[in-house]
Amino acid sequence: MAEQLNEYQGKATMEKITSLAKRRGFVFQSSEIYGGQSGAWDYGPLGIELKNRIAQVWWKEMTQLHDDIVGLDAAILMHPRTWEASGHVENFTDPLVDCKKCKARFREDQIPEENLAAKKCPECGGELTDTRKFNLMFKTHIGPAEDSANLIYLRPETAQGIYVNYKNIIQSNRMKIPFGIAQIGKAFRNEIVTKNFIFRTCEFEQMEMQYFVKPGTDDEWFNEWRKRRWNYYEKMGVKMDHLRWHQHGPDELAHYAKDAYDIQYLFPMGWRELEGVHNRTDYDLGRHTQYSGKDMQYIDQDNSNERYIPYIIETSAGLTRNVLMILCDAYDEEQVADKGNDDDWRTVLRFHPNLAPVTVAVLPLMKKDGLAELAQDIRQELKEDFATDYDQAGAIGRRYRRQDEAGTPFCITVDYQSKDDTTVTLRFRDSMEQVRIPRAELTARLRQEIKVYKRIK
Ligand code: GAP
Repeated sequence: MAEQLNEYQGKATMEKITSLAKRRGFVFQSSEIYGGQSGAWDYGPLGIELKNRIAQVWWKEMTQLHDDIVGLDAAILMHPRTWEASGHVENFTDPLVDCKKCKARFREDQIPEENLAAKKCPECGGELTDTRKFNLMFKTHIGPAEDSANLIYLRPETAQGIYVNYKNIIQSNRMKIPFGIAQIGKAFRNEIVTKNFIFRTCEFEQMEMQYFVKPGTDDEWFNEWRKRRWNYYEKMGVKMDHLRWHQHGPDELAHYAKDAYDIQYLFPMGWRELEGVHNRTDYDLGRHTQYSGKDMQYIDQDNSNERYIPYIIETSAGLTRNVLMILCDAYDEEQVADKGNDDDWRTVLRFHPNLAPVTVAVLPLMKKDGLAELAQDIRQELKEDFATDYDQAGAIGRRYRRQDEAGTPFCITVDYQSKDDTTVTLRFRDSMEQVRIPRAELTARLRQEIKVYKRIK
């Protein structure tokens, strides 16, 4: 009954999402049997499918749908001079403060001002240390000797792999400005505070695109890419009232940026950055020219061989952060009338069918009388075109709920009538409506439903 609901019923909280993610095999804590490794997470069977689909949708958007953008997969380990040139060795730091008493560690900007002024720990009241700068790059050594000559970094952003290859790509693929290079890959940051599940982690993935433009056209392209990135989330079916822009103030701008806007999402813990669009100017290519001694200028052969260092407009989204956003955005709890029990709730992940880890589940009403075999046969046929699941365990209502919770948009139920007239029931996750259709029409119907999908809630 409504009056018995607790205040969290029907709402997405980070606890519920974390627990569902573990229960259903989306995301597990890394090294859990050893007590867990903070800042690292493992993607289970449903999680890897979801992550892969988000990556595929982004990749298609950036490369297939743009003639002027090509892909790259650069190495995580780069020459250490890269990070001196990029400014990360010098500037990629967080201000760090420790509590001398309880040993809690904070980023300075996360401590209330009055505590900072009084040097008082916000957790135990103990004395705080002075602020010191802490570089977020992970260091390791290449080769057997652990000395400074062999120092190497795990990349903190994928962008630099693109910059150092931009001339290779111009030459190999005859790219002309303006053009872009897209990349998806791992990045590593020694984050001081890693909370809120997979929001901020030490190991994560980015989906970045660097767009090379003629100086003077950068403001126009910056605005164009802001528009395109906003439209992308709309196309993905994200709740648009949960997105907003945040422009970086002078004290927020990264060392390379002339202008920067974040797309923020309203996560259960509040508005947080999802993606950044940055005007990086000629900073990076200019610095690589200086540090490598190589000429990074573009030669415009269509314009009297005019030479210049291009400006770069960057769109930088977290892939793993997008996984969290999509989980939060899709999460819904809904009260459903179920066999006279009007106090029944279901948890449903309303993924867009293009993102759902399983597109269609095939469920025989009974295991016996040849229904299981028929259902398996139908699944076999659908496998070529869709990600499928098969479930014959338990009451049909329970099986629907399990699929709702995994975000499966379509279920096909095979019953006794199916044996007689080769029709099956197609059940829609969002509306829970069911229609009876001939088996022979399934593939075409599912394709059509995916194409015209509109979220109803
Ligand atoms: N190349 C520019 C760059 O890396 P950023 O704002 O530092 O810019 C871009 O990061 C995106 O990468 C962020 O919007 C966020 O989605 C993701 N990201 C950054 N740090 C992260 C972390 N520690 N864990 C998960 N995602 C992170």
